[in-house]
Amino acid sequence: MNKTKSIVVASLMAGLGLTACNQNGEKHRNPGRTYAPDMVYSRAYDAYTYNPVFADSQSSRLPVPGTVARGHELPDHLKEGDTTAYKTFTTNLRFSDDELKEGKRLFDIYCGICHGQKLDGQGPLFASGKFASMPANFKDAKYLHMPVGQMYAAVKFGKNAMGSYSSQLDIKQRWQVIAYIKKVQSENGGAPFALGINNVPANSSTPKADSSSVQKTSDVAKASH
Ligand code: HEC
Repeated sequence: MNKTKSIVVASLMAGLGLTACNQNGEKHRNPGRTYAPDMVYSRAYDAYTYNPVFADSQSSRLPVPGTVARGHELPDHLKEGDTTAYKTFTTNLRFSDDELKEGKRLFDIYCGICHGQKLDGQGPLFASGKFASMPANFKDAKYLHMPVGQMYAAVKFGKNAMGSYSSQLDIKQRWQVIAYIKKVQSENGGAPFALGINNVPANSSTPKADSSSVQKTSDVAKASH
């Protein structure tokens, strides 16, 4: 009698142990059965496949025009060929030492092959003689005081033999690379490094520190009063 009792108790406890185990882990690992998968999971269209939802039947879509990807800068509105705008175009962005290091990294990847890691226009591609056009020597007097907007335009639109880098570098990265160039230039006879302020023409008597393309919120507030 006693024996049967203890067997019953033992099996009950074992059962409890099993259920506890189930609740703790196994239940979560097992998603169960799906009765009608087509209704539970929507069917994704693969890239480059026929897509009946859109008029042009394409599955690969561009982002909606005018939208800005999360964490990215607003569009710059600089127009190709507007050389007057190039001269004054600048940015509100300021970079920390780490961000300038990133600017150097990007420069070495995208620009160094032509402009040289020393920024002297003697990159391996040009030095090898396989690239006929001499890339800008950023340490040369001709480029030391080049407005940052003109540099930005070269990166965004390209210049003669140099192609555009707008698809490789987003707006912040373009300025980061230019900030890095300006910093190196400041150590080689260029104006003291301060991206945005560098843009003031040498003969200007009233330095305008804030000739930025993006209006500051404080200015907007002033204007509306
Ligand atoms: C394939 C070689 C090549 C690469 C890569 C390249 N450039 Fe250039 N770059 C040139 C050449 C060549 C010129 C001279 C263009 C001219 O004045 O005819 C030039 C000129 C420039 C100028 C001067 C623009 C002006 O208005 O005179 C800037 C600024 C510049 N490059 C920045 C960059 C930056 C920043 C990168 C990297 C994102 C880059 N370049 C990558 C070849 C290159």
